Amino acid sequence: MKTGFQNLSPAIEPIRWDSGTLYLLDQRELPQREVWLEIRTLPPFLDAVKSLAVRGAPLLGIAAGYGVAVGMFSSDAKTESELRGTFKTVREQIAGTRPTARNLFDSLERMERVVEKFASQGREKLLYELLGEAKEIHRAEVDNCLAIAEHGAPLFSNTKRIITHCNTGVLATGGIGTAFGVIHAVHFLFGLENVWVDETRPLLQGARLTAWELGKLGIPHRIVCDSTCASLISRGLVDCAITGADRIAANGDTANKIGTFTLAVACKHFGIPFYIAAPTSTFDLTKKSGAEIPIENRDEREVKGFRDYIWAPENSRAENPAFDVTPAELITAIITEKGVIEKPGAKPIVF
Ligand code: MRU
Repeated sequence: MKTGFQNLSPAIEPIRWDSGTLYLLDQRELPQREVWLEIRTLPPFLDAVKSLAVRGAPLLGIAAGYGVAVGMFSSDAKTESELRGTFKTVREQIAGTRPTARNLFDSLERMERVVEKFASQGREKLLYELLGEAKEIHRAEVDNCLAIAEHGAPLFSNTKRIITHCNTGVLATGGIGTAFGVIHAVHFLFGLENVWVDETRPLLQGARLTAWELGKLGIPHRIVCDSTCASLISRGLVDCAITGADRIAANGDTANKIGTFTLAVACKHFGIPFYIAAPTSTFDLTKKSGAEIPIENRDEREVKGFRDYIWAPENSRAENPAFDVTPAELITAIITEKGVIEKPGAKPIVF
């Protein structure tokens, strides 16, 4: 795929396969340390996904492809029925890690089709094809980011101040990013005065990861507490908002990191545009509306503290839904690699 933004390159490559080993940049350690996980068996892979060492919907899709490869390469399955049985177990374990990001399941379905086609042709052939499919998923998501930037950037020619939520850059996608890729392209083309970076409670993907990526690329930015958004917008300091997505239903309702809905409501209240940028691998057209999207609930300790430090009273309980659903009517447009869906709530989405 050719786009006008081939010159934009991401700050780092967070995932790669080399000689039978999956290398993952451990995002739990950023921005203080760049630590690489070397993964050769399934249990550490599952742990890396659950604990957010690797995260972000498109990157979870890429990781799921390589995770299947890790699980199959590290097994001693030989016969067709052993290969099929091992794949089933690997698929179930990966599917049980994080329920909301559609890309993870999209990749597992792709890998399953490879098993259907090649399991009868022996272990070597199947492993070769599975690794090829994982690499193809990876390559496609990198391309998707460039195409999203190409479709999205022209919408922002008069934009100088953008607010974003969570992390949607290379650390979440493997490419230049979805919402982040648009921001990068807009800065490259038109020059941005400021990107407001929601810190993104409770795991600080904005303050730790988005700020780190923007800093590496020299894009001007300020971190704000998530709860600042309405005040910033009311003071005329924000032209528009753009975020990524974890799963988009057929009516355009969009699940994304907790706090996205709040930001979209504030944008609607003050009459500024709210955009989503996501590849079509994030859409789940089997879900009629956002009410059908599974929302991950995570450990309450993530809300009660950070890393090993707990600041909340031991006996106070906390709730930790990792995502919320923004109704389509609050979304100005969804930018995909195939084009821009204006007013996504107006009619059902088809590709
Ligand atoms: O819990 P995370 O960090 O995996 O959540 C990530 C997000 O919510 C991102 O905004 C979303 O996956 C889009 S990534 C391009």
